[in-house]
Amino acid sequence: MLQEHLSQAHDAASRRFQLIDGQVAWIERNVLRDKKSRVLDLACGPGLYMQRLARSGHTVSGIDFSPASVQYARAEAKREGLEMDVVEGDLRQTPFGGPFDLVTLLFGELNVFRPVDARLIAAKAAESLAAGGKLLLEVSTADAVRAKATPPRWYAMSCDIWSDRPHVVLQDAAWDEATYTSTVRYYVIDAETNVVECSAVTYQAYSDASLRELLRANGFAGVFAGKGWKSGDAGLLAVVAERA
Ligand SMILES: C[S@@+](CC[C@H](N)C(=O)[O-])C[C@H]1O[C@@H](n2cnc3c(N)ncnc32)[C@H](O)[C@@H]1O
Repeated sequence: MLQEHLSQAHDAASRRFQLIDGQVAWIERNVLRDKKSRVLDLACGPGLYMQRLARSGHTVSGIDFSPASVQYARAEAKREGLEMDVVEGDLRQTPFGGPFDLVTLLFGELNVFRPVDARLIAAKAAESLAAGGKLLLEVSTADAVRAKATPPRWYAMSCDIWSDRPHVVLQDAAWDEATYTSTVRYYVIDAETNVVECSAVTYQAYSDASLRELLRANGFAGVFAGKGWKSGDAGLLAVVAERA
């Protein structure tokens, strides 16, 4: 998985560095207003955003439950002599600490949490923010979540996020109008052993109104579209919320 995060051949687990550089510049200009700030990156992965913000002199923290990503982020901080506080933990259980000027949750990660957990994370983010602090969410649009429900397809891979070994994948997905979710199932068949492993991801869609409601009910006041944010994908938008 770490290899996929760092790959410059695709934008699967993390986006390519050029896109991240542009997003970090956007954050510094439009959200931090070019002031040295305290930033917490939730689900920080290998710390690609933290590293860039730390290089610019911001005080950065991050939380992620992937040991390999956390180890990589810490090693990079040490290699470059950067101050980065990287905590290995689950966002649902780990205290966020603070106070921060900005909390980020990027790359559509809010959409993979159940609504009850999304509310908890929003409330914890609000509590961890200083007065005037902001939450930056990069969320999948409802249309993009719905579009994940594609017809079944088969494909073969030598290595990807599901396995380091040659394998065949059957991907199947469905939209559920009642819960407003898409669930994508991956049946991963090892090419040598024929062992099948199934993984599934459920994506929660939010209408504009339901996302605003989630944020307003959990400690945020103004909610704004992040104009000019470039995600490289029309289905991912930036939303900035101000602590109430
Ligand atoms: C798509 S990756 C994005 C990583 C990073 N934000 C980036 O854009 O480079 C999602 C990250 O969320 C982390 N993650 C997912 N659920 C989590 C949870 N409940 N607690 C902590 N981290 C989580 C994964 O380990 C992974 O690193």
